[in-house]
Amino acid sequence: MCSMMYSQLGKILEGLQEEFFSSKKQVDFAKAFERISARYRAESGFFLQTEEERKAYLFTRLPGTFSAVSKVLEELVARCPNLPIQSFLDVGAGPGTGMWAALELFNDLEKCTLLEKDRLFMELGKELVKRSSSSCIQKAVWKSCDIEKTFEVDSHDLVLLSYSIGELKESSWAPLLQILWKATNKALVIVEPGTPSGYAKLMKIREILKNLGGHIWAPCPHALSCPLLKGDWCHFSTRVPRSSIHRQLKSADLGYEDEKFSYLIFGKEAISPIQARVIRRPLKHSGHVELITCQEEGIKKEIYSKKDKETYKQRKKLDWGDSF
Ligand SMILES: C[S@@+](CC[C@H](N)C(=O)[O-])C[C@H]1O[C@@H](n2cnc3c(N)ncnc32)[C@H](O)[C@@H]1O
Repeated sequence: MCSMMYSQLGKILEGLQEEFFSSKKQVDFAKAFERISARYRAESGFFLQTEEERKAYLFTRLPGTFSAVSKVLEELVARCPNLPIQSFLDVGAGPGTGMWAALELFNDLEKCTLLEKDRLFMELGKELVKRSSSSCIQKAVWKSCDIEKTFEVDSHDLVLLSYSIGELKESSWAPLLQILWKATNKALVIVEPGTPSGYAKLMKIREILKNLGGHIWAPCPHALSCPLLKGDWCHFSTRVPRSSIHRQLKSADLGYEDEKFSYLIFGKEAISPIQARVIRRPLKHSGHVELITCQEEGIKKEIYSKKDKETYKQRKKLDWGDSF
């Protein structure tokens, strides 16, 4: 995750770190992190309750959600390389994570709108923005909005729900998606934790968006029912470097963590389909590679050996999450 926007955001966070944490306070932030993790694991409660919890989110969760959103937006670009994205709507934006990721990928971006109901989280997001050198980010419009209720919003080329729809009552998903689908000019992207529960939520959302007339661009190579067997779930992974404060707050030794995520990209128009998506980390042996893929015919295990020449050369470059 050595992107330009992340290095800018990372530096801003580093600067804020000194302002936020004195050695005495750090213990409180570590406890705040434990509380929010417990709530996310239990998937219940009012997730972020105190100022310390919101600040702890910036250092412990934001790097992972940024990295997952970046990966998904890269896939959007891979599926539709010339899609002009000039306006971006982040729904349940938190501290604006998705906007920073979008700016990296879409050079033509001119307008960002962020919807969020947590006023204090928005204030923190604006603190990050103040320190940014991007005029697009500085012009962003933050709107206080409860997305579980009816609301009006202008249409935008790209609409994102990153780690937010899962926090809402299920009964609110269909009316919310109806509003957002109407407000989508080009593509609607949803990212959730790569857990069985995150995946199960996305499968319900996939049906709602299909019924609204959406075209599924990724990760699925088809719009048929998901062929995964019960107990399995479609998810991907991205490696996130941990800053020293990230390690301290999580009491972690490793210099990185793997953020697991699940996602959907729906487009307004049909685009050429992919044949297959790699849904597990490929097993690369000397002389052959083993891929588990999702295809229209179902889940397939394919082995390509050196004998397959050109195909082997192409397939051995593939990683978990790639398509062909
Ligand atoms: C886990 S955070 C994700 C923040 C950000 N999108 C990210 O990826 O880092 C979930 C966000 O959804 C917001 N949210 C939850 N319920 C909401 C609602 N009813 N209306 C608006 N925002 C909501 C929360 O306040 C929080 O900022």
